[in-house]
Amino acid sequence: MMGMLRMKIGLVIGSVVLSAGLWLGAPATATAAGGGITFEKQKWQHSGPFGTFDRAAMVRGLQVYTEVCAACHSLDLVAFRTLSALGMSEDDVKEFASDYEVEDGPDNEGEMFDREAVPSDYFVAPYANDKAARASNNGAFPPDLSLITKARVGGEDYLYALLTGYEDEPEDFELGDGMAYNKYYSGHQIAMPQPLFEEHVEYDDETEATVEQMSRDVSVFLTWTAEPAMEDRKRMGVKVLIFLGIMLVLLVLVKRRVWSGVH
Ligand code: HEC
Repeated sequence: MMGMLRMKIGLVIGSVVLSAGLWLGAPATATAAGGGITFEKQKWQHSGPFGTFDRAAMVRGLQVYTEVCAACHSLDLVAFRTLSALGMSEDDVKEFASDYEVEDGPDNEGEMFDREAVPSDYFVAPYANDKAARASNNGAFPPDLSLITKARVGGEDYLYALLTGYEDEPEDFELGDGMAYNKYYSGHQIAMPQPLFEEHVEYDDETEATVEQMSRDVSVFLTWTAEPAMEDRKRMGVKVLIFLGIMLVLLVLVKRRVWSGVH
């Protein structure tokens, strides 16, 4: 009897350890995005069950977004006040928001008016509407970036690949007017011109602004905008696992106690 029980417990523990091992040790291989396109999986501080966001990278990524991507892409779902998660003080956030103008109103005369943004406002879109966005971008629509890492297969790995994937088109490739060649974009031609070039931004923390570095940083930042509560979710997961582990031990002990007189 005891032998059977030990074997069963052994099996349960074995399979838990094995699946955790498989999960943790998922190899950094290429991911397929459909259409036969593959790209590398990157190592991120925020991946894995204990992963946390790299705050310094998020701050740099915010700078890349505001100085480069924000010219074409909105970030509609992100409120300035949430930037405190990047380690910004209340005053920093106020100052950051005050660089933007938002439309408010109507006032007592029924008129809409512009005012300085405050922390409770959201990032301001670069274009007045979708048609204006398309008109400025060769007919293509630059999607809102708030949830983009959730909206594409491969998430931040794909985003990083896309931003670093610009090159000259092969000789036999017919590139449409105003289009750019990108190794990782489905169909290889994209209406977004290469957005990042060496030293495009000047980082406050003096990190060298290579294309790879800026791509990485903005990918971390946009992973956070898509799932700001990721760290809480992971912490909760670990707590639940610890709880279940203790529960398992207690149940085994109780079971032994209850059955001890039966043999
Ligand atoms: C000059 C305008 C412009 C800038 C600057 C720009 N983009 Fe884009 N982006 C576009 C347009 C236009 C599209 C739509 C492309 C298409 O449909 O072919 C696009 C598409 C995208 C996509 C979606 C790709 C897909 O798989 O559908 C992502 C992600 C993206 N941009 C990220 C960024 C990031 C990050 C930055 C800043 C580093 C940036 N973009 C800067 C114009 C821009």
